[in-house]
Amino acid sequence: MIQTKHLRCLSVVMAGVLAVATTAALAHGNVVPQPVETEGLKPLPEGQWLTENPYRGNKTAIEIGDSGFNENCARCHGLQAISGGIAPDLRELGPEYDEYFIGHVRNGVHRNGMTYMPAFEGVLSQEAMWAIRSYIDKRYYEYNDKNLDDLYKQADEQS
Ligand code: HEC
Repeated sequence: MIQTKHLRCLSVVMAGVLAVATTAALAHGNVVPQPVETEGLKPLPEGQWLTENPYRGNKTAIEIGDSGFNENCARCHGLQAISGGIAPDLRELGPEYDEYFIGHVRNGVHRNGMTYMPAFEGVLSQEAMWAIRSYIDKRYYEYNDKNLDDLYKQADEQS
């Protein structure tokens, strides 16, 4: 009896795994949001949202943001943030767009009952969001042929 019960449980779990796997395959990538490890970054106050990137030019943040972007954003915004047309090209977002950026990432984009972009608040930490922003800063610099040393210098001045 107990064995049958176990088996039934297992098959429910397997069905779940299959469902997730199938959805992921259809969407060409990771659909389940991936947590981003932000060790090495200055912790930010919980529940207090900044409107400016506290890690701009910080190389550790850029590196963390690079993989965080790949796992959570690239499937819509393109590898290396080069848009394939599904979603806007984020390399156009200069530093004046920090507040705009964090608003979009926290809340996602929903219109007429449709979700164009999922909300990441509660999924990614604020640290992870700004790390991804730092990576996009770098892509903005590269896209606009700006000198990356000028970006890295901003981190030195902060610390
Ligand atoms: C399911 C697809 C999808 C995912 C995943 C996604 N986005 Fe988006 N994002 C969109 C779409 C579509 C828009 C444009 C929405 C609209 O119509 O305004 C957008 C808009 C944005 C904007 C505003 C851009 C602009 O030029 O107006 C930002 C910033 C942004 N996304 C950042 C991110 C980041 C960072 C991630 C990962 C943490 C992410 N998005 C994940 C689909 C996605």
